[in-house]
Amino acid sequence: MNPLRSTILAAAGNERLRRLVATAPGTRAVVERFVAGEGHDQAVEAVRSLAGDGLTATLDYLGEDTTDAEQAERTVRTYVDLLDRLHDEGLAPHAEVSVKLSAIGQKLGERLTLDNAGRVCAAAERCGTTVTIDMEDHTTTDATLATVAELRRTWPWVGAVLQSYLRRTEADARALAGSRVRLCKGAYAEPESVAFAGAHEVDRSYVRAANALLAGDGYPMFATHDPRLVEILGERARWYGRKQGSYEFQMLYGIRPDEQRRLAGEGETVRVYVPFGEQWYGYLMRRLAERPANLSFFLRALASR
Ligand code: FDA
Repeated sequence: MNPLRSTILAAAGNERLRRLVATAPGTRAVVERFVAGEGHDQAVEAVRSLAGDGLTATLDYLGEDTTDAEQAERTVRTYVDLLDRLHDEGLAPHAEVSVKLSAIGQKLGERLTLDNAGRVCAAAERCGTTVTIDMEDHTTTDATLATVAELRRTWPWVGAVLQSYLRRTEADARALAGSRVRLCKGAYAEPESVAFAGAHEVDRSYVRAANALLAGDGYPMFATHDPRLVEILGERARWYGRKQGSYEFQMLYGIRPDEQRRLAGEGETVRVYVPFGEQWYGYLMRRLAERPANLSFFLRALASR
């Protein structure tokens, strides 16, 4: 992995830097580029505005790595309230939710995680929408896929996420090809023992996994902003005889918005990942690490202190 990227990802865990960034006057402008806002109102407004442009959304209540059962409980309640609100405002057909298991108790035990995730799934079912379980660092992959498998016994539509930088992903894609799977490159600092280090290898792994998903009868969700991959994925989908709507493209809020609208204009289903909430620091650092050009915003924010 490029050294700048791993330095920024290491900073994601630094509490002193977090406090410095959080209080820097220019930070708000940087955060607003990637995060819809802090509360339900802004999240719901973001969905409404995306829906107006023909885009769907998956909402992520920011927060991860909790070791506090009360915090996990607050996160579950936030998701349930949000789903009810989307339903009441007629927006549930346009939005699902994305959940990080580490935010709802993965470090506190399997039973609690499963119960909490099940409560979010039950609320989504009641509202007529779906849930995707985000994937975090490689030490959690087995546990996360096991939880997804367990949830799918009741809610077969629960989405899994695979990361093409992991060497195991092509095999996982074959195993999960009959289901809803989001395929992304992966956003964490991973050792070479488990992950490809070079960008080309990660891209090639992405295409192999995409082929496996398209060959199956599940619903692939291609999460990438990479123009080359977007083109290849469109071609591969046609080659496999996939009709538009039998797979979707996904991108992050604030990244390549014109491309999101262009693809939707061509009839593709496009879902935008919309993060909201106060705990934006780890998410922001991962976005900065992906594109060092974004760092200039960040450094200006700090320099204006
Ligand atoms: P890549 O990083 O190679 O970027 C390709 C091009 O896209 C860049 O050249 C640039 O033009 C543009 N771009 C990409 N990132 C940008 C940025 N931050 N700012 C501006 N432009 C940018 N990861 C994970 O580990 N677990 C998960 O559950 C998820 N979930 C998820 C959902 C959705 C909907 C998306 C789009 C992504 C994720 N990710 C994720 C993140 C993913 O793993 C990956 O880190 C990013 O999508 C960046 O990778 P790309 O495929 O976009 O390619």
